[in-house]
Amino acid sequence: MFLTIRPSILSRMHELEQIDARDRGDGTPRLQRLRQIPPDTGRFLALLAASSPAGECIEIGTSAGYSSLWLALACELVGRKLRTFEVLPEKARMARETFRVAQVESIVELVEGDARQHLWQRGEVGFCFLDAEKEIYEECYDLVVPKLVPGGLLVADNAISHAEALKPALDRAQADTRVDALVVPIGKGELVCRKI
Ligand SMILES: C[S@@+](CC[C@H](N)C(=O)[O-])C[C@H]1O[C@@H](n2cnc3c(N)ncnc32)[C@H](O)[C@@H]1O
Repeated sequence: MFLTIRPSILSRMHELEQIDARDRGDGTPRLQRLRQIPPDTGRFLALLAASSPAGECIEIGTSAGYSSLWLALACELVGRKLRTFEVLPEKARMARETFRVAQVESIVELVEGDARQHLWQRGEVGFCFLDAEKEIYEECYDLVVPKLVPGGLLVADNAISHAEALKPALDRAQADTRVDALVVPIGKGELVCRKI
């Protein structure tokens, strides 16, 4: 997956990495920033998604589609599609542009709107990446975990960078007998939950 990334994907990844780095340094307001994962987290997500059992592959919080590109590598490898949810119209516009120029429109479907209004309609889930506002993590967790197939994975970002804000959600996941859960110290910290 990593040594054969198509030029169309690689160049959009580099472009978004530059925008994200600039946003973090120039005082761009929070809601306008891309706030995307670092590349190593992208590789980690792609490895997990490619190894996940059959079922839908979904992402909650697209921003401009950087993490979606990493997940698209995994989906392409195993012949699946990614469905990704983004609530802000300007971010959705950027994500559509990402998927167009990276030529992954046949692999990635962008759903514009609040993921919470759509998740209940989803079928069985093999892999979910949760990377939205911290206030909705528990709600999304409650919507996704019942839909995970046995062995299915829910990965949530910011488990270390926002450990305090996410403490109730992290404590709950780690005490939840439906899953085995662990915080992995990569990037901003990934909570990995595997359905039993
Ligand atoms: C941290 S950014 C996502 C970064 C992206 N995963 C990446 O690494 O490239 C969080 C995104 O979640 C979106 N978001 C927040 N609440 C949402 C919701 N309820 N449904 C869908 N998207 C949401 C925000 O608009 C924002 O673009």
